[in-house]
Amino acid sequence: MLSYPATAADWRQRARSRLPRFLFDYVDGGAGDEATLAANVQDFAALRLRQRVLVDVAQVDTRCRLVGQDCALPLALAPIGLAGMMARRGEAQAARAAAAAGVPFTLSTVGICPLAEVATAAGRAPWFQLYMLRDRGAVQALLQQAWDAGSRTLVFTVDLPTTGLRHRDTRNGLAHGGTRAALLRAGQVLARPGWVARVALGGKPLTFGNLTRQVPDGRNLNAFKAWVDAQFDASVTWADIAWLRGQWKGRLLIKGVLDVQDARAAVDSGADGIVVSNHGGRQLDGAPSTARALQAIAQDLGAQTELLVDGGIRSGVDMFKALALGAHGVLIGRPWVWALAGGGEAGVRQLLATWQRELAVTMMLTGATRVADIGRQHLEDYKQIDI
Ligand code: FNR
Repeated sequence: MLSYPATAADWRQRARSRLPRFLFDYVDGGAGDEATLAANVQDFAALRLRQRVLVDVAQVDTRCRLVGQDCALPLALAPIGLAGMMARRGEAQAARAAAAAGVPFTLSTVGICPLAEVATAAGRAPWFQLYMLRDRGAVQALLQQAWDAGSRTLVFTVDLPTTGLRHRDTRNGLAHGGTRAALLRAGQVLARPGWVARVALGGKPLTFGNLTRQVPDGRNLNAFKAWVDAQFDASVTWADIAWLRGQWKGRLLIKGVLDVQDARAAVDSGADGIVVSNHGGRQLDGAPSTARALQAIAQDLGAQTELLVDGGIRSGVDMFKALALGAHGVLIGRPWVWALAGGGEAGVRQLLATWQRELAVTMMLTGATRVADIGRQHLEDYKQIDI
């Protein structure tokens, strides 16, 4: 066991030692052969930065505005379904850590803690993530719930007309019902008694907190899962986004765009911003990495919209690289969940503090004193980057 986790990889190790195998793999894994998942990480890692010297960097500022909000650094926590299975009342803990670090937290439609619990824990409302559901009345009700809880930024995820095939989940029996799968998972649970005490027993209720009004059998996670699965609407088009735009008075981010044409359509639909994302490599294996997609979309759209990106960002240095490629900010997924599983609220705080420091140091060594000044000029061979 590492004494002082420093990096996302260190937190991942801790998470692995504390979570039942099927939960660790649910977070860690991706679709298919996990090629896109790997490319997300590799393509950020491969970018080279220009070190500059003798620039006055005595005053470096990581603060910025993100989707109309003052933030301590250009980062928000991405929506993660079932995060509350990774630590006791997991979303509430992570939202508190995010608030302390001065960055937004996004609550997933299929989070465990309800909006009100997260807002109260953090002292401020989270961003809310939603998928299109077949039952448009349920969509309207959820939007109202989010608005009433104080959420003003909606992250609308569009890259999940169906769920990607994640083979680790199949191997671990997550994709199966029946006794054999249950026994397989039970064995993995029994190997982690600390998790049983902290989360399975200490973290109840383990249901989809935001959907309790929609799902009648409110104590059974399987009933929730069945409802959500039946609600995925694969017939959604841009016309439905126009409808959604009319329903939501706050800021709207479209999450899950990878293609330049789709990015233009998102701008035309009246969205306030785009999250360039391949769902952390969990949907279309073989899709381009997000660094690659971001580069193309940023070049095409320029300053027309607010561009966020997620997937494969594993450090403050990667955050800087995403900004250099044209993003205004990043979302992080697995890193915060690993830190949450490995160290609860304190773990997420520590991760965010490290990344802020890392961003500040990177800015000092590249000669950028303000977040808004970070750009392609900070990348080596920036005129012809081949990723
Ligand atoms: C996700 N993601 C996700 N996205 C979303 O819009 N709603 C959701 O409920 C979830 N759930 C979810 C669960 C888990 C375990 C993971 C790993 C991811 C996608 C997430 O918001 C984000 O796009 C990716 O995690 C970004 O990639 P990195 O940072 O994990 O590499």
